[in-house]
Amino acid sequence: MKNKIVAGNWKMNLTLSAAEELLHELAEKVPLAEDTDVFVFPPSIYVSSASRILNHKTIDWGVQNVFYEKCGAFTGEVSASMLKSMNGTASIVGHSERRQVFNESNAMCQLKVKALLENELKAFLCCGEPEHVREEGKHIEYVLEQLDECLSGVEWSKNLVIAYEPIWAIGTGKTAHSNEIEEMHSKIAYYLSEKWGEQGKKTPLLYGGSCKPENVKEIFSIPHVDGGLIGGASLDASSFVKIIMAAHESH
Ligand code: PGA
Repeated sequence: MKNKIVAGNWKMNLTLSAAEELLHELAEKVPLAEDTDVFVFPPSIYVSSASRILNHKTIDWGVQNVFYEKCGAFTGEVSASMLKSMNGTASIVGHSERRQVFNESNAMCQLKVKALLENELKAFLCCGEPEHVREEGKHIEYVLEQLDECLSGVEWSKNLVIAYEPIWAIGTGKTAHSNEIEEMHSKIAYYLSEKWGEQGKKTPLLYGGSCKPENVKEIFSIPHVDGGLIGGASLDASSFVKIIMAAHESH
């Protein structure tokens, strides 16, 4: 059985003191569970704190975005090699908020995935359909096309993680139904096994969108769900720890 992954996406939240308080709480409370890998993605400006406070702890940290170039005149961006030099281990790629607010395309996501994998960093590649696409019944083809373009020319890597996050479920309190999650995850799993054979089957598939302690037990029991990408509930240490415990207990 694959390890479960629980990852906290803090988005653009918390001032330095609140971020450090949360990091300390997590460093203290997150239990060591060999079957569950825990990641947090604070705002990039706080990576020194994450690196210091989570050093030697059971929690990995990453950033919410990297640019695909190594260095140069790209004001406001950080690169995969910079992340690596800070001892970060992962980045989210193509979160729907980046796609919608910052016009990030599948082509850009593909370059970002490649840059991360080349640096032996984990890429948490997000995919997911908007509500109108699901209403039209085109959600499966929409998501598989996203993945196909984002993974074009990408070789399989143990560092790739896929997060399915239906846009209508993010931050809305409206979780996708178990049947909807199972349908999409099994299609993604099939797509990955067609693309990469046995190796593709090893790629972890996370669900994201209004996960909370009350619903993750059920979500983590769905076939092909290997964990969760958690937004709002990751900002509260006790909720996040409960979600980690549910992942551990789902084994
Ligand atoms: P949410 O966010 O848990 O607040 O819905 C999930 C995400 O955007 O990664």
